[in-house]
Amino acid sequence: MKPEFWLERWQNNEIGFHQTEINVHLQDYWMHLRVPAGGVVFVPLCGRTRDMTWLRAQGHKVLGVEISPIAVRDFYAENRLKAQTKTQPPFDRWEADGVTLLRGDLFDLSAGDLKDVVAVYDRASLIAFPADMRQRYVRKLAAILPPHVGTLLVAMDYPQGEMPGPPFSVSEREVRDLYEPNNRVELLHTRDILDENPRFRARGLTQLVEKVFYIRPNG
Ligand SMILES: C[S@@+](CC[C@H](N)C(=O)[O-])C[C@H]1O[C@@H](n2cnc3c(N)ncnc32)[C@H](O)[C@@H]1O
Repeated sequence: MKPEFWLERWQNNEIGFHQTEINVHLQDYWMHLRVPAGGVVFVPLCGRTRDMTWLRAQGHKVLGVEISPIAVRDFYAENRLKAQTKTQPPFDRWEADGVTLLRGDLFDLSAGDLKDVVAVYDRASLIAFPADMRQRYVRKLAAILPPHVGTLLVAMDYPQGEMPGPPFSVSEREVRDLYEPNNRVELLHTRDILDENPRFRARGLTQLVEKVFYIRPNG
């Protein structure tokens, strides 16, 4: 998926992935990660998710990266936050009330950008990428995240032949192949959510299983 694809989605307001409510799995399982309050939580491919405001309300600082300027602008506007902005190539840096969003390409991040991160929240980020980019994404984050940073991952699994992504189908097997052996992968939750998601049934799916994982580095 090229950045232009996503920029166009935001321009055309085709953002079916955006949730108006705080993600229920974040609320149910975040405690598993035992993230110290005040620690920086990294939200890759953050869109304008309200989950960032929930994380902030838990006392965390939030660092997101997002390619779309519309998403970044709308996040602060929706939360009535007046952001300070500065251009720090390759990113535009927006900041207000403990939420920093880097407007730019995740693949341009460096270890310095993530040096204070203590945990990662990935909802609809890994699954936004096709298979070859998923590998690149996982390798990239492993290369630049500080050691011992755990991830709460919300993914979807469905018969990939029934619908082109995104979101792409990512099985438990693939999650394990991507993250093990450097991490321990724990499946926290699994449930078929097709009945609550008629838009995916309309796109041809006969099954849509949401899976939540806790991924923590070994050692
Ligand atoms: C499926 S959405 C998920 C957004 C968010 N995680 C949520 O739960 O609402 C994927 C987001 O990633 C952004 N994106 C895609 N590729 C990107 C990249 N290479 N770097 C930064 N953001 C990217 C898109 O603009 C889009 O907002």
